[in-house]
Amino acid sequence: MQGKVEVLFRELVRDVPSTTYATHALYMYPAKFIPHVVRYVINKYTNPGDWVFDPFAGYGTVAIEASLTGRNAVLWDLNPIMEVLVKASTYMGELRLSDFDIDWGFSRPYRPLWSNINYWHPREFYEVLSRAWGFWHYAVPSDLKPVVAIPLLKVTRYFSYADLEIAKLYKSREAEARVKELLSSDWRSKLRELYWQYARETYDKIRDYQYRGPKRVELIVRAGVDSLNMRLDRDVDVLITSPPYLQAQEYIRSFKLELAWLGYGNKLTELSKHEIPYNNPPNVKVNSETYARIREEVRKLDHEKLLEIYDAYFKSLAHFLNNNHERVGRVMAIFVGPTKIRNIRVPIDEILREHLESLGWKHEVTLVDKIVSRRLFKVERNPATGLVDERTPTEHLLIMSKN
Ligand SMILES: C[S@@+](CC[C@H](N)C(=O)[O-])C[C@H]1O[C@@H](n2cnc3c(N)ncnc32)[C@H](O)[C@@H]1O
Repeated sequence: MQGKVEVLFRELVRDVPSTTYATHALYMYPAKFIPHVVRYVINKYTNPGDWVFDPFAGYGTVAIEASLTGRNAVLWDLNPIMEVLVKASTYMGELRLSDFDIDWGFSRPYRPLWSNINYWHPREFYEVLSRAWGFWHYAVPSDLKPVVAIPLLKVTRYFSYADLEIAKLYKSREAEARVKELLSSDWRSKLRELYWQYARETYDKIRDYQYRGPKRVELIVRAGVDSLNMRLDRDVDVLITSPPYLQAQEYIRSFKLELAWLGYGNKLTELSKHEIPYNNPPNVKVNSETYARIREEVRKLDHEKLLEIYDAYFKSLAHFLNNNHERVGRVMAIFVGPTKIRNIRVPIDEILREHLESLGWKHEVTLVDKIVSRRLFKVERNPATGLVDERTPTEHLLIMSKN
């Protein structure tokens, strides 16, 4: 289709050595950007000292790339963990391995304000973790808290019934077997050993980041906020974001255990209500013919919930764009994945393009990336047509510029 160009970001952007370099992989985060995409937009559309903006910042890939290239950034996300991840992954202070020391017998335990906590940890682990987290909450200096949180969160997840392979918080048989085995061993030593293994990894990655010469930029971080209720209070040059997927990952749900220990146990229910597309956005008009046409197809499925999700998703994004697009000076780069509702293909990028055109933005190009590392299967070409098989996942970077 017109205006679409196939690319491989990994090949296009040579100054990013790998998807996990520096601090890009301190902690798991589902549907993260590959840094190449962010770097591509930064290289092409910004200059040092410019402001970039990610309203769905997630792990904070944009923060890392912005700081390494000397751009300032505004970052919003509903998930409060974003603040910890951004601060840890852009930590520029002095760091010693001994900064990760924890008093495992700390006298003041921290008890998460979340009634389900005991479902996720056996009593024995819970007691030890409460003391370690007490130390983190009450004794770790605030500038070091994000950094120390990383190994502590990892070990907390390991010493829980949560499955380690799946981001979603899920009590699997494997996880129950892991806990059972731990309980029958010298698990206290194992916990400390594992903590130190994670601490060393975190330390090495942060040092790697620091060696790459990050610049002293401004990062304005608003974590735990609903981007639908926010308005930019400063001008920015470029928006670069990947909004939630349509039938998304439930982020707050996936991070409940982490959030409970970090101190957000009493906010989980409220936060979940704001998560796109399970939220209840204002009834704004989505200015897109494609939106209306696909909506008709979804409506015919006669499945109320699917139609609700479809509407909530696009109304949320339209509302956010209506509120904030005027503050974006130059370019919007929006990265979206392929989506289907049942068998209906939903071209999210087309719908957002049409809506943005109605707000006066001009379509530059849509770059279509054939995902390599996240791909589950090889690129299949249909021998008859020579076209890439439909099952091949591609991701689209929609680039709009100000008229
Ligand atoms: C695809 S992820 C972004 C990942 C990010 N680009 C990265 O590299 O890590 C989408 C994000 O949207 C956030 N989100 C969902 N609903 C939101 C809302 N109403 N306001 C702000 N953020 C929201 C989720 O918490 C999630 O982090």
